[in-house]
Parts: sequence; structure tokens; C-alpha cells
Amino acid sequence: MFPRERPRRLRATDSLRTLVAETRLSAAQFIYPVFVKHGQNRQDPIRSMPGIFQWSVDTLIPHLSEVYSAGVRAFLFFGIPAQKDALGHEAYAADGIVQRALQQVREALPDAILIADLCLCEYTDHGHCGVLRGERVNNDATLDLLAKTAVAQARAGASMVAPSDMMDGRVQAIRRALDAAGFEETPIMSYAAKYASGFYGPFRDAAENTPTFGDRRAYQMDPANAREALKEVLLDIDEGADLVIVKPALPYLDVLHEVREEVLVPVAAYQVSGEYAMIEAAVQQGWLERERVVMETLIAIKRAGADLIITYWALQASRWLNG
Ligand code: PBG
Repeated sequence: MFPRERPRRLRATDSLRTLVAETRLSAAQFIYPVFVKHGQNRQDPIRSMPGIFQWSVDTLIPHLSEVYSAGVRAFLFFGIPAQKDALGHEAYAADGIVQRALQQVREALPDAILIADLCLCEYTDHGHCGVLRGERVNNDATLDLLAKTAVAQARAGASMVAPSDMMDGRVQAIRRALDAAGFEETPIMSYAAKYASGFYGPFRDAAENTPTFGDRRAYQMDPANAREALKEVLLDIDEGADLVIVKPALPYLDVLHEVREEVLVPVAAYQVSGEYAMIEAAVQQGWLERERVVMETLIAIKRAGADLIITYWALQASRWLNG
């Protein structure tokens, strides 16, 4: 009898397709990145990321309350400091921009998950992710500053810290410093497999962290390597990472999948600024349908193995999911 198999039977209606869907998205698994700066009443557009803004703390709070109401519980903070210097002092100052934002958002949204991105590149005048020795980033000298930053962020009310610098040994240095300061309950979400990617381009407008010379290839990973991503992830877990991030997302679904198969901790994927910008640009041209393609990328990232998704579309996607 032909045909015995008719897979189309289960595709006939929307209800049937929803019933048998293998992968589902939930706003509870989104993490929304935000850019915060000094001043008042600021909501400055980011040229290469239409719909995304740099906020002052007073405008950020109502915005995050709105995102929270849509079902997104976790926010990832990036800071634009008042002053940059060779050692990135504002990253670990008690009154640094991210620390101020954490304190005030914590008061407004006591149950929100406030994740502090932990890196020096927004705070250094040279734009690299650590302390320089000549034209090289000095790994071990950077670790102390990262550890100090983690403690300052935890003191300010961070629910988690997320090191994105790609220095060797930083998870262990941060874990030790947090424990010594009494923050043994603060998890570390490590950007374990972070590639040296051209897709971070628009983020440089957003966070104003373009290196003044060279690039980040001497510390971020080579896109050619997948095995090495597993090595980085396993090392970070061994040093104490509670969650790990693969970044970017869509061009690295193979890596995401392998990491999900290999480890026991939650895995997050970071859908980065360039992934956002290229779809938004095509949508502006009328060449792609926003909701359809954004949801397709998110489901693809989830299907590949992400437990959590860091995405600039967190608010819109949650609204689409809520119908
Ligand atoms: C900072 C950092 C970057 C991103 C997150 N943290 C930029 C970089 O490493 O150059 C990129 C995020 C994005 O592109 O959305 N270390």
C-alpha cells in the first residue's frame, strides 16, 4: 500500500503543528542585554541597531519594568563609563555606571535576575579587554581587575556575573574573589566559547569599545575551531562556571549543539548585535518579514541546544509568544 508514511498528516492545521512541535520558546528563557550610561532622561538610539538604545538609569527602569511585565526575567548589563583609562577603573568603582544601575534596578525589580557583563573593554581607553603590556593584553595582570570588578558588581546587587573577556584562568580568579568577599552564592555565567567575530560590529557602536589598535584575535577564539570550544567550556566548568555561553549564536549552531551534548550545566547562546542588525536592515528594506525570521532564528538556536537565549529581540519575541 502506497504511501504507508504520510508525515503531512501531522502538519495539517496550526493546532496539530503546535501539538507536535519538538521545540518551544518561552520568554522565561530569554536574557535581554541593555546599555546604560550616565546622565538623566537619556534614550540615545544606536545607529547600527535600530530599536536598541543607550539608557540612563532613570529611563532604563521603566523600560525594564515593561520588559519584565512581558515575561522576561533576566537582564544583562553593559556600561558606558564617564571616563576611560588604561586600567578601566570605572569597571570596578563602587559608583561605576553598572554598579549604580544594578542598585537602582534591584530596588525597582527585586525579583529580576540582574546579570553583570564582566569585561574591561568598555572602560579602557585602548578598548582592549585587559591590561596592556606593549601591544599585548597581559593575561595574568588582568585577572585581578576582573576579580575586583566581579566583587563590585556582586556588592551592587548583581544576581550573576558574566565574564566576557576570554582571559585564561579568569573563572577561577573570579570564583575565589567572590567567595572571599562572602558571595559564594553568586553564580558565574561564563562566555566560555566566545569567537573573534565580525558579527560584534554594531555592538561597538552600542558599547563604544572599539579597540584603538589591532583586534581581539589574540584572546577570542578562531572561527575555524570547534574542538577548542569544548576545551574552553570544560576548562571554565572545571574552574567553577555555573552556566556557559556560546557566542555568536546562528553561525555557531554546530558548536552550541556539541556543547549541549557534552556538559551538564545550562548553556546559553548569545544572538549578537550583528545577527540583530542584519535582519533589522533587511526588514527595513522590506526584504524579510521580521516576526517570521526572528522567531525562526530563535527556534533554530533552541533546537540546536540552547537552554537560554541572550537576544536583543527579547521584548518583541515575548510579545509575539504572548500573542
Ligand atoms: C565585550 C563584549 C562584546 C560583546 C559582548 N561583550 C564585544 C566584543 O567582544 O568585541 C558582543 C555582543 C554583541 O555583539 O551583541 N567583551
